[in-house]
Amino acid sequence: MKTNKTKANKKKKVILITGASSGFGFDVAKELIKDGHIVYCTARRTQMMDELKELGGHIHKLDVTDEKDIQLVVKTIISEHKKIDVLFNNAGFGTMGSIESLPIDTIKYQFEVNVFGIANLLQATLPHMRKQKSGTIINMSSLVGHVSTPFMGWYAATKHSLKALSEALRMEVSSFGINVVMIEPGAVKTEFEDVALKSLEAVKHHKDYKKMISNFKANFKEIYKKAPGPESTVKAVLSAINSSHPKTTYKTTLDSKLFSTAKRFISDKAFDKAVLRQMK
Ligand SMILES: NC(=O)c1ccc[n+]([C@@H]2O[C@H](COP(=O)([O-])OP(=O)(O)OC[C@H]3O[C@@H](n4cnc5c(N)ncnc54)[C@H](OP(=O)(O)O)[C@@H]3O)[C@@H](O)[C@H]2O)c1
Repeated sequence: MKTNKTKANKKKKVILITGASSGFGFDVAKELIKDGHIVYCTARRTQMMDELKELGGHIHKLDVTDEKDIQLVVKTIISEHKKIDVLFNNAGFGTMGSIESLPIDTIKYQFEVNVFGIANLLQATLPHMRKQKSGTIINMSSLVGHVSTPFMGWYAATKHSLKALSEALRMEVSSFGINVVMIEPGAVKTEFEDVALKSLEAVKHHKDYKKMISNFKANFKEIYKKAPGPESTVKAVLSAINSSHPKTTYKTTLDSKLFSTAKRFISDKAFDKAVLRQMK
């Protein structure tokens, strides 16, 4: 009963989610639809969102590297609802490999998805949020928005960029009634691990890196074996969406909280040593 009353009191929000076909995006979309919000669920693999469609989600194909897809979905939302309350920039992936060895085209694609895709989504939605004088933008950052570790450097570079742009944006749009939130999980069980390991296998490394790469791979698998599920991160995103004054940053897993604190209090050399020791 209490839930129904809360539901009735809560205003339906119009929400756009990228990367809703799996992991955090899928779970967040599911909860929001069940909660009665109007949710535009987007990704490249639309067939993976059938369950969201059955629940009442609006399913659209959207590749974040395709400006036309973005324009079309935003135009559809505005013509159907005249507003966008929430943009959840969740789509992304991690390309693994050494700084020296990743082909430039692979690095560029990593930035196309994790950074420039978000740039396009922001530029398409902000004019509407500014006009309506309200909105919440949630950017899916990461623990590696604060720290960078071997063979995750190019991925970490995209999440560091996302942190920098989110902080500037937060100040630029606060007077327009727009909130900007960063979500920072550490390792979490989703499809992320598989995609990351596949990307690592596709890279040709010089034999000098061989031992380090094999240690990295074993360590990465071990971390993900022990990693938590998406629940705490999903809860943080829902809390940011439901709050009129969300926090600027939600660190959603223990490793995220510990690593970013450690990085602030120990020297770079001590941090490097600790990371390299763990990878031996
Ligand atoms: N899991 C972790 O350990 C972890 C930790 C920190 C941060 N993150 C971040 O969390 C976000 C979501 O990842 P996840 O863990 O939920 O992994 P996931 O299960 O692999 O989900 C990734 C989502 O991104 C979408 N995506 C990838 N490339 C896309 C593109 N070009 N256009 C549109 N959508 C695209 C995928 O959909 P399609 O393939 O269907 O397009 C999928 O829905 C990412 O930004 C990731 O960097 C994950």
